[in-house]
Amino acid sequence: MAKKETSGSSVLDRILTLELARVAERAAVSAARLRGHGDEMAADQAAVDAMRRELNRLPIDGTVVIGEGERDEAPMLYIGEKVGTKVGPKVDIALDPLEGTTICAKNLPNSLAVIAMAPEGDLLNAPDSYMDKIAIGPGYPAGLIDLDAPIAENLAAVAREKGVKIHEITACVLDRPRHARLIEDIRATGAAIRLIGDGDVAGVIHTTDWEETGIDLYAGIGGAPEGVLAAAALRCIGGQMQTRLVITREEQVERAHRMGIDDIKKKYTLEEMAGPDVLFAATGVTDGNLLQGVKFGRNDITTHTLVMRSSTGTVRYIKAKHTQLDKFHLD
Ligand code: FBP
Repeated sequence: MAKKETSGSSVLDRILTLELARVAERAAVSAARLRGHGDEMAADQAAVDAMRRELNRLPIDGTVVIGEGERDEAPMLYIGEKVGTKVGPKVDIALDPLEGTTICAKNLPNSLAVIAMAPEGDLLNAPDSYMDKIAIGPGYPAGLIDLDAPIAENLAAVAREKGVKIHEITACVLDRPRHARLIEDIRATGAAIRLIGDGDVAGVIHTTDWEETGIDLYAGIGGAPEGVLAAAALRCIGGQMQTRLVITREEQVERAHRMGIDDIKKKYTLEEMAGPDVLFAATGVTDGNLLQGVKFGRNDITTHTLVMRSSTGTVRYIKAKHTQLDKFHLD
């Protein structure tokens, strides 16, 4: 990550925090119109269109660093796309207009519209590869978990610090064949597992509020872009996270090098993935453990958004009632 002389907090404007919430809300509402329709691409496209439209209204000189993909794969919100009015602070943006496209298409819990913003150079420019991740929420001593330690040790450490037996700990893992060994190892400790079909940004964020979500630790391999978004969230709300890119193909190695990553086996800390002044917003598309999904009323639309800023540590839950429905470009 590039080091800059400008202090982060002087670059990002407080007003942008709420602006970012609006961007996430608009994307979530557009995707929510297509919940349960079984069409991942249509829901994603609707969210992308809405997020891009709103983003381009913001008074920022923004660059998408985590987006819908490389320019040749994604026509909109691609990595490197310039967004905003171009008048305002230079910022980098990580986004996923619809995180959990399949969840949304099936109308299952925890799909989100997600966006994070930081001063230029303060978000890890991760390639579109996989990433191994481990995360816990706030309140634990620093260095409690280690990506390279056996999962049993990490679970035992969390149980010890939480003051509970290991079988009272719950780990969240993406339900994938690649996790067969991880799942077996977790079960061997007696800890519980929450297997999720998709949506590991939510999975990581859920560790930050175990009383609400029942999840203590997140572990396993998911998308690298999702890893950066989750790191941005944890940087704001607190917690610990370590990651490592999982790069198997030569073209991914080249892509990582092009993005400035020399050591593709590097173990990243939370601080290396997201800088000290990050803004983060996520709006629920479908109902979830932390955020309710979009609700369409007769004359209004209700959204639930989590908005956070790392430099101040403020965490806001915004329940918004939208009555000017023409602003949502809905047919
Ligand atoms: P999409 O929103 O792009 O469908 O991603 C959903 C997701 O579950 C992510 O949360 C996760 O990081 C990634 O896919 C895991 O990838 P894969 O489905 O290939 O295991």
